[in-house]
Amino acid sequence: FNKIGIIGAMVEEIELLHKHTEVASEVTKAGITYYEGKLHGKEVVYCKSGVGKVNAAVCTQIMLDLGADCVLFTGVAGAVDPRLNIGDIVVSTSSIQHDMDCSPLGFARGTIPFHNRSEFPADERLIELAVSASDRLFPGRSLKGIVLSGDQFIASRETVKLLHDTFEGACAEMEGASVAQVCDMNGIPYVVIRSMSDKADGSAHVNFAEFTIQAANNSYRIIDDMVKHI
Ligand code: ADE
Repeated sequence: FNKIGIIGAMVEEIELLHKHTEVASEVTKAGITYYEGKLHGKEVVYCKSGVGKVNAAVCTQIMLDLGADCVLFTGVAGAVDPRLNIGDIVVSTSSIQHDMDCSPLGFARGTIPFHNRSEFPADERLIELAVSASDRLFPGRSLKGIVLSGDQFIASRETVKLLHDTFEGACAEMEGASVAQVCDMNGIPYVVIRSMSDKADGSAHVNFAEFTIQAANNSYRIIDDMVKHI
């Protein structure tokens, strides 16, 4: 890869990247600032997309137009797979927009009508890099699985069960599948790396801020390790 694109949705998620990258230039488009520079001697471009699928889609397209030839999405998510604990890591095998629902027309939930695909597979090589980084840094605390994205903060056990039963998802967040779709439309490889900030069960407000900082830190360390080995 010649220029590695890195996106986080929130400030906590890119703050650490900002501390460690030698930034050569920055450009602001559609209200998002893209920083270009070098991390471990590799060309990178990174930014904070903002929360939700629209922010993530616009952000990804601009990042690709700036020349990124792969995209790593880093951040936090709510655990859906019951095996996951707070702080554990999910590396995406694919991602689905769980809130895409045209079931009244006979389409399965998550299916984008008349689009070539609705489940966007992540890139094998990027998955491998993310998994080996997680295994090195957080042994036994990561799994590969389906990342579910929607414009909703999931906060009930019933919804978690529904998402797990319907999609066999590993975690729920609000951007990954939208990044994935834009990458797919442009023929660019991607992977999502998410660290669990909560169990999506309605208790997130209690310590979301604290766990988010920890979890964002874990995600950053994985990205850093991946860039080293890419
Ligand atoms: N990001 C972190 N936790 C989440 C949740 N429970 N639902 C959606 N996005 C999240």
